[in-house]
Amino acid sequence: MLRKRSAGSSSRSKTLLPDLKTFRTAVDALRTKLDGECAGVRDADGLEDLRNRYLGRKRGSVTLLFDQMKTLPAADKPAAGQMLNVLKTKVQEKLAALEESLRRPATRGPEIDPTLPGERLAWGAAHPLRIFQREIESIFEEMGFGIEDGPEIESDYYNFEALNFPPHHPARDDWDTIYLGGDLLLRTHTSPVQIRVMEKRKPPIRIIIPGKVYRRETPDPTHAAMFFQVEGLVVDRGITFAHLKGTLEHFLKRLFGDKLKTRFRPSFFPFTEPSAEVDIECLACGQKDPACRVCNGTGWKEILGSGMVDPQVFKNVNIDPEQYSGWAFGMGVERIAMFAYGIPDIRHFYENDLRFNRQFQLK
Ligand code: PHE
Repeated sequence: MLRKRSAGSSSRSKTLLPDLKTFRTAVDALRTKLDGECAGVRDADGLEDLRNRYLGRKRGSVTLLFDQMKTLPAADKPAAGQMLNVLKTKVQEKLAALEESLRRPATRGPEIDPTLPGERLAWGAAHPLRIFQREIESIFEEMGFGIEDGPEIESDYYNFEALNFPPHHPARDDWDTIYLGGDLLLRTHTSPVQIRVMEKRKPPIRIIIPGKVYRRETPDPTHAAMFFQVEGLVVDRGITFAHLKGTLEHFLKRLFGDKLKTRFRPSFFPFTEPSAEVDIECLACGQKDPACRVCNGTGWKEILGSGMVDPQVFKNVNIDPEQYSGWAFGMGVERIAMFAYGIPDIRHFYENDLRFNRQFQLK
């Protein structure tokens, strides 16, 4: 009986599975079918049923393939056997993984209620100072300026000496800072980057340098021990004070509006000659309130320092002052932002109170 059935099935199988190629197709098809059926299993009963249909000792699909393998030509049997063993292992693994995943929800605790509102994640955003700095950068980029960067820990040479502050000169007192020992200090302005750039590169130079600077200050509404500056530097043949004036006026009008009144007031910096501080009209009182707290009734607000690069500075970086001239400026980012937005206390910028920060958005 047994032999007869196997003889019968083998003659049928021979026509169904004449060679290794067809056999492989049958093995692949079974594997694909299993994937589909696994996805449909919802519980332990379904899993048991699936296991029987594939691995059942008599009628399991995999078992039947083992039977059919015997009908292949002798030369094909080793390859077919290997194929089937791989298939069998795969099926066992799949079923085991399925069993595991059916068990997991029970140990995972209560089911998730997908109708509950989700947790809201706050989007990150640029800090108001960064936003303002970008606005400044983009105006200068429109005018063809590049952006440079330099170290916040500087040597005495770059922060002072190369900028024409002799040792012990009283001008240094206005730029007192934190000394780190040896020759190093936290830079008091972005001007040392002027030197670093001019050492590396020959004119024409047209750059701005945004960055953090440090001063020995007791914090109050208008002073902080760390704040941001944007430096500017232009060097080429034939550069005059008129270029400085035109560029800065254009910049300030782009920032504060076309009708803005500006004025250049003589000043002193060791590294520029002549030097000027630039004031803009007080937008808080419209130059009308003698008791204005923003401009102290003067009608003007000092916004930046500037001047023509001192010939001595050019000599320090081996640029010939007979051939080249240039100008530079430096402005406090907080100060301008405070003025533009009517922010009364510089410390708001560093407290990271989101009620403050969220009031500013990138345009
Ligand atoms: N570095 C100066 C300061 O911090 C500003 C400045 C820069 C002035 C460049 C003139 C030229 O006050």
